[in-house]
Amino acid sequence: MGGGPGGTGGGVASTSLLWAIVMSAFAAFGGILFGYDTGTIGGIIAMEDWLHTFGRYDSTGELGYYLATNDKSLVVSILSAGTFFGALLAFPMGDIVGRKRGLILSCVVFCLGVGLQLITHWGIFVIGRVIAGFGVGLVSCLVPMYQSECAPKSIRGLIVGLYQLAITVGALLAAIVLNFTKDQQSHSSWRTPIAVQFAWAAILSGGMALLPESPRYLLLKGRQAEARKALGRLMSLPHNSPEVEAEAVEVSTALAVELQAGTSTYLDCFKNNESRYGFRTWTGILLQGWQQLTGINFIFYYGTTFFQQAGISNPFIITIIADVVNTVMTFVGVQLIDRVGRRRLLLVGAIGMCISEFMVAIVGVTVGHPVQVGGGSVVNLAAQRVLIAFTCIYISFFAISWGPVTWVITGEIFPLSIRAKSMSLAVASNWLWNFAIGYATPYLVNPSTTGVNAVKAANLGVKVFFIWGSTCVGCFLFTYLFVPETKGLSLEQIDLLYRESSILGSEDYRKKIIAEGETFTGNHVAEKE
Ligand code: GLC
Repeated sequence: MGGGPGGTGGGVASTSLLWAIVMSAFAAFGGILFGYDTGTIGGIIAMEDWLHTFGRYDSTGELGYYLATNDKSLVVSILSAGTFFGALLAFPMGDIVGRKRGLILSCVVFCLGVGLQLITHWGIFVIGRVIAGFGVGLVSCLVPMYQSECAPKSIRGLIVGLYQLAITVGALLAAIVLNFTKDQQSHSSWRTPIAVQFAWAAILSGGMALLPESPRYLLLKGRQAEARKALGRLMSLPHNSPEVEAEAVEVSTALAVELQAGTSTYLDCFKNNESRYGFRTWTGILLQGWQQLTGINFIFYYGTTFFQQAGISNPFIITIIADVVNTVMTFVGVQLIDRVGRRRLLLVGAIGMCISEFMVAIVGVTVGHPVQVGGGSVVNLAAQRVLIAFTCIYISFFAISWGPVTWVITGEIFPLSIRAKSMSLAVASNWLWNFAIGYATPYLVNPSTTGVNAVKAANLGVKVFFIWGSTCVGCFLFTYLFVPETKGLSLEQIDLLYRESSILGSEDYRKKIIAEGETFTGNHVAEKE
């Protein structure tokens, strides 16, 4: 069964291309919710108004209104805690209430969380972030699940790529909205970027209400007549036409094969059998963890503050530049995945990020202490530019490699019988690490404080990039040792590769099975879905 970001399970082969495009655009809205929500908080907590409302006042007058390290860490990372549980619950929810209704419900949950954040109360604001995060977690699994069950498999790679692209567009939109609202002459300008999220939820849920339910879900529930109606709408044909009937029979057959493969438990995902379930599940879980350990969300969560403290006069503009670089380069990356290959992109990306992150750290350390200069030390213009340039190079390497490729691999390495569960574990791992890094970063970067709000912190400042640079060495080694090349293979061929080849020998084996390709895949039920 398909599902999760990049779910590559069976699609409706003859779905009209137009509908496939419409649905892909809709999946994109899930990504926008995800990207906007995670991208907006960094700017909001840097807004004067917001600090006036939720910050503490430094009685020495030196800092004015400010956000203490522990509060910053909590408010930024708590969303990912909610998202973690959302991701874990998305798959059971999709099976119980359906993909479409599940998505609409997720939007309602999300709106509740957003609404709570508009109330001027610190505790409620934090709870609102957890609830909104829960909604984002559900959406981050359900949208691609719905999409992979309805779209033709011929555009599988593109759809997965579009999803990551939409995440980056969401973050870019957040930066743009923040830049417009930060100078509003009002005491509640911080509410605007939050309230904008109602629009994304309204578009996603409104659009979903108009789209048909996934025929695969309806057939799973034995709702034959409704399934045929849904198929008819997807294929732009009358529901009693022979084509729709043939499609329904084909999906039902594939479903029967899946059900026969067994209703697996979460424990089965870790079994070490000949199909290497355990190895594959751990690969997905760890790959998503390594993606977060590249430190990318340091830029998206704390970038505005980082640039501000580096003495840059309009940090909001630099944040927009960083987001534009991310979006444009993700677009490039999406084109490269099927040409250059997953493994190669991950390896090159890890090296590129490692070098550029070390450069950010070295420039920062030798020319000034950008993260700590809030107190007023001077950082020269040339150093600022070099710092920004290396930050952008680092983002570019992420965007062409670990950004999209991680989602693509997560969508394709699991066999049918454990796909939904292993994917949800991998996506949850992404959010868990996302949370851990979001939470720990202020403690790593900021200096300790004394007095009533005493907080112990490591005061690493820009040196934190030495840590992210070093973890990229881990990303490289992990890929080299554990991630096979899966470019150009069908899901069944990937299965075969895991059963019969070592990781280091995967490139030769891949070429061999591609050469034998046609005859092999022709016999596979899932490939014919
Ligand atoms: C990936 C990451 C996400 C990050 C985004 C940035 O989707 O999973 O955490 O915010 O890339 O583009």
